[in-house]
Amino acid sequence: MEIIRAIKSRKSIRAFTKKKVSISVIKKILETASLSPSGSNTQPWNVHVLYGNTLKRFTKEMVQEFLKNSTSLKLERLNYMDTYRAPYLERRRKVGWDLYNLLGIKKGDFQKTLEFHSRNYRFFDAPIGLIFSIEKDLGWMSWLDYGMFIQNISLLCRSFGLHSCPQAAWGLVYKKANKFLKLDKNFTVHCGMAIGYEDEKNKVNKLKTERESVKNFCKFYS
Ligand SMILES: Cc1cc2nc3c(=O)[nH]c(=O)nc-3n(C[C@H](O)[C@H](O)[C@H](O)COP(=O)(O)O)c2cc1C
Repeated sequence: MEIIRAIKSRKSIRAFTKKKVSISVIKKILETASLSPSGSNTQPWNVHVLYGNTLKRFTKEMVQEFLKNSTSLKLERLNYMDTYRAPYLERRRKVGWDLYNLLGIKKGDFQKTLEFHSRNYRFFDAPIGLIFSIEKDLGWMSWLDYGMFIQNISLLCRSFGLHSCPQAAWGLVYKKANKFLKLDKNFTVHCGMAIGYEDEKNKVNKLKTERESVKNFCKFYS
């Protein structure tokens, strides 16, 4: 697939069909994504591929953890910002409300909001769940390298007719996830990705997200 088509057809998918994904395809995707650049070729990524029974056990435990402790779970480190401000706040609100409108979730309906959020911890019922871990003392350039790697995975998915959803939500259950995956104490789970075939009939996948135009985020110098 041409890179431009892969970028334009990628979108975050939150409902998948039951069609299985071959593990050899996932291996090819990861092998190719490993060609991503990283500062001094340090390659800070570690991927945990979950499928089949292990995926079921993992998601069951993580959904329980999220629902039991949803009000007390804390992130290990700041994900975005302490207090959202313009222009990030407006953008975040817009995508949130567009999504909830599609799903018929009304403002203040905490139960439905919680239920929908908890679907993150089932990888939105995708047949493949990736969990990404990192050594905790790596600096922000390593996180940037990691992002390039994750983006390449999502684009490579398109080459195989697959879709994905990157998920920062996993950072909230990092303690349980670290334990389940038996990570060394200097490693931690920071995010994940659901991978599978798009359920085109599900309205949650009809979400269209907007972008700023180039003139609003770019200055040209000559
Ligand atoms: C690092 C990262 C973390 C994200 N975490 C979540 C998440 O936890 N749950 C979710 O439903 N979507 C998550 N998303 C998807 C974003 O909401 C989505 O990328 C954004 O709204 C733009 O929409 P698009 O991906 O369809 O273009 C995440 C995206 C990124 C890049």
